[in-house]
Amino acid sequence: MILPIVAYGDPVLKKEAGEIEKDYPDLDQLIENMFQTMYEASGVGLAAPQIGKSIRLFVVDGSPFAESDEDEEEDPRAKGLENFKKVFINPIIEEENGEEWGFNEGCLSIPDIREEVFRKEEIVISYYDENWELKEETYNGYAARIIQHEYDHVDGILFTDHLSALKRRLLTKKLTNISKGETKATYRMRFPLKKKQR
Ligand code: NI
Repeated sequence: MILPIVAYGDPVLKKEAGEIEKDYPDLDQLIENMFQTMYEASGVGLAAPQIGKSIRLFVVDGSPFAESDEDEEEDPRAKGLENFKKVFINPIIEEENGEEWGFNEGCLSIPDIREEVFRKEEIVISYYDENWELKEETYNGYAARIIQHEYDHVDGILFTDHLSALKRRLLTKKLTNISKGETKATYRMRFPLKKKQR
């Protein structure tokens, strides 16, 4: 089932989400719905707050970022993305290492806006997978980037929070318009400042 994606301005996106227990109701169904919703919107990651649930859960599938053309020069940051489909439950970023690098990030909750965000190159993350197996893994490059962005969501942080005060001010009107439902996004959304929901 495709769920509406919560747009910028909804308080759920600013809230620190809570951990869940193994007996969380219909978790498998929720995870499946989140993947379906993410694919429908052509996203590479989706966090539970973005579908209105303030819980520490996100899904990712980085395969659209994987190298497709074999003739192209290999981008080391894209390594391993073809199999990067995962569920993260109650994640904890244990370490962030390396140099910060800039990448033009977007977010399904903030359509039509992309801005350069600086984050560290490598992360170590512990989490439970969809079978409640505890994992600890190291990620680099785009995979780390996707995780860092989604992990921020469960902490109530958006990529716009990483921008300079000036940049944020320049985006104010665009962000307010998104909250009102004025966006070119073609997927189903829920807007905090729109009177009548579509
Ligand atoms: Ni996002």
